[in-house]
Amino acid sequence: MNLIFSKARVLVVEDEKIIAKDIESTLKRIGHESAGSVARGEDAIIAAEKEKPDMVLMDITLKGEMDGIEAAKIINDRFNIPIVYITAHQDEDTIEKTKGTNPYGYITKPLDDRDLSTAINSAMYRRDVELKLKDAEEKYFRLSENAPDMIFSQNVATRVYNYVNNSATKLTGYAPKEYYDKPGLLEDIVDPEWKEQYLFTLKMIKSSNTTIPFEYMITNKNGGKIWINQRSVVLRNAKNEAVSIEAILTDVTERKNYEEKLEETTLKLRALSNYQQRIREEERLYISREIHDQLGQDLTVLKMDLSMISKNAAKQTDNNPNDKMNVFIDELKKTTSYIDEIINKVRKIATELRPDILDKLGLNEAIEWHSGEFEKRSNIKCITSLCEEEPVLSPEKSISVFRIFQETLTNTARHSGATEVKIELNIINGWMILSIHDNGRGITPSEIEKGTSLGILGMKERVLILGGIWNINGEKNKGTTVQIKVPLN
Ligand SMILES: Nc1ncnc2c1ncn2[C@@H]1O[C@H](COP(=O)(O)OP(=O)(O)OP(=O)(O)O)[C@@H](O)[C@H]1O
Ligand SMILES: [Mg+2]
Repeated sequence: MNLIFSKARVLVVEDEKIIAKDIESTLKRIGHESAGSVARGEDAIIAAEKEKPDMVLMDITLKGEMDGIEAAKIINDRFNIPIVYITAHQDEDTIEKTKGTNPYGYITKPLDDRDLSTAINSAMYRRDVELKLKDAEEKYFRLSENAPDMIFSQNVATRVYNYVNNSATKLTGYAPKEYYDKPGLLEDIVDPEWKEQYLFTLKMIKSSNTTIPFEYMITNKNGGKIWINQRSVVLRNAKNEAVSIEAILTDVTERKNYEEKLEETTLKLRALSNYQQRIREEERLYISREIHDQLGQDLTVLKMDLSMISKNAAKQTDNNPNDKMNVFIDELKKTTSYIDEIINKVRKIATELRPDILDKLGLNEAIEWHSGEFEKRSNIKCITSLCEEEPVLSPEKSISVFRIFQETLTNTARHSGATEVKIELNIINGWMILSIHDNGRGITPSEIEKGTSLGILGMKERVLILGGIWNINGEKNKGTTVQIKVPLN
């Protein structure tokens, strides 16, 4: 070891004057400094206090009441100055006796320059490391004590707390002393509803090397419910057994309360949106039936009346093409075919408002029908592969799935640039699965996340209300796939 330290001031405690003088001159020669020499233990204590040397070279056998070990003990306790013993020989018993005095080293007489230099440098090196360590420990201790979060260290086997910081009181109402007095106190105050989950997570943390942050509720000393976020580290021995657990606990009650309120609001909004969708569908159904039944029937009656008038008029003509009555009959025919056109338009409007095919023949047929209509209007080829079995869904669920299907095809026509759409409907393990795949440009993740347009948002919400799963996925220039999974009734 070749340690070079700046000059150390060394107090020499040696009852043989010649040796003492010799050591002092050696000190100078090897680059250190003497803080004086004394012959008795009592004087060594006085000199240590007065001179404040960097270290003490202490002879064990001294003349007078006090031997070197006793003097060293007092110097170490009172002034915390490193002591290196000078011994006549390496005697095990004597060395044993010095142990309680925190010795920094031993050096045997006669002293040679190299041994002395090494002993001083090692002692100063150790002193330096110890001071740095102490400094770091104090720094971390201060940080820990002033941290707003609760920090603790606990023995895994005995559940005894080795350390608990002051914030424990603020967080849980229990002071560090109460934790020291009661092993496993924290486990005891975990809310009963969370206990099982808490113990399970703790077990996971102990058995794995990952640090899993987890959240649970405790009941504090005043009976208040507090949400805790815990991050833990497990310290292990050489056999990789968990020895202790160190954890940081943060009060997240405020955040949790906000989250709960947000969740509540989301659920209320979802229910409101559901209610509005239902009202909308009911109104559409009502208007569609009124148009179909009322307007449709009135137009049919009108058509029948006109044909009656036309027949009666025909009886009164004599087949002369120039007869005014024949001109009138021709006009009547034109009007009748115009009424036919109106009847068709009315039917179309009624069907678009609410495809009664859905109510009468079910989802399979409605999808088939709408695909056909879509293909005609958009020029995008629709390939349908539907299952033979009709999915058993409530009318509310069926219309929701149908509306999502319509919105998906509308998006395909508006945004994809596709030439073909594949539509597949399957029933697997009590779930209806509808996939719509177009061969267009492919929706991008940012378009999915954007959230400013309402089509995708509406689809997601509708499926969530049905207790289902909705997924959209795009691949550049390969197309977009929308998948809807809904539990059957
Ligand atoms: N099949 C698709 N292929 C490519 N891009 C798509 C496809 N479907 C949707 N997108 C993109 O995702 C965006 C969001 O779709 P969304 O249906 O939410 O809104 P929108 O159709 O623009 O407006 P609206 O609110 O009227 O439905 C679209 O603007 C479009 O950029
Ligand atoms: Mg859209």
